[in-house]
Amino acid sequence: MEEKITLRPFTISDADDYMVWASDDKVTHFCSWNSYTDKNTLIDYIEKTVLPHPWFRAICLNGRPVGAISFMPATGNDSCRGELGYVLSSEQWGKGVMTKAVKLAVKSVFEEMKGLERVEALVDVENKGSLKVLEKVGFLKEGVLRKYLVHKGTTIDMIMFSFLSTDTMLE
Ligand SMILES: CC(C)(COP(=O)(O)OP(=O)(O)OC[C@H]1O[C@@H](n2cnc3c(N)ncnc32)[C@H](O)[C@@H]1OP(=O)(O)O)[C@@H](O)C(=O)NCCC(=O)NCCS
Repeated sequence: MEEKITLRPFTISDADDYMVWASDDKVTHFCSWNSYTDKNTLIDYIEKTVLPHPWFRAICLNGRPVGAISFMPATGNDSCRGELGYVLSSEQWGKGVMTKAVKLAVKSVFEEMKGLERVEALVDVENKGSLKVLEKVGFLKEGVLRKYLVHKGTTIDMIMFSFLSTDTMLE
């Protein structure tokens, strides 16, 4: 891949780019949220959730956002871990973008978050692309969480993945 992939915080001026993937049913199929149909609702989400979030980054191709990746650190006795989430514009699928973005994100959160020992990712058993991304980065598949959550009206099985150290990141 020739295009340069970088991560950076979002700004409100990214709303038009964000709308590209947030309004795409192909993208939101496996997401907990539904496609956005209105830019103002998305702007409200960016203002209230994305900007104040502890770690929420734009995945940029040559400086332009094409997706998002977030890490939510847990608190209290769970503060050794946190959960990764990510989404990519369908135009960019299948080019290795998310594999690279997850590697960058995992390196960053281990560097930036004191006391972090475990990055988790929970993936729908049917989400073949996402399962593959995590395996390619070097996440360990720990097991299937049966009937774990209700996704858009259907109870689904999820796979729990974990990653403990950048020493085990795959090339
Ligand atoms: C899942 C997703 C993040 C994958 O991103 P991507 O940049 O296309 O993934 P990569 O190009 O890095 O692909 C990694 C591997 O997965 C494979 N892959 C990607 N999408 C696939 C799919 N739908 N089915 C099967 N394999 C797939 C790629 O071919 C590649 O394998 P290879 O190196 O052996 O060829 C992207 O499709 C997406 O954003 N989907 C919608 C949102 C989503 O599901 N988020 C995750 C919720 S847990």
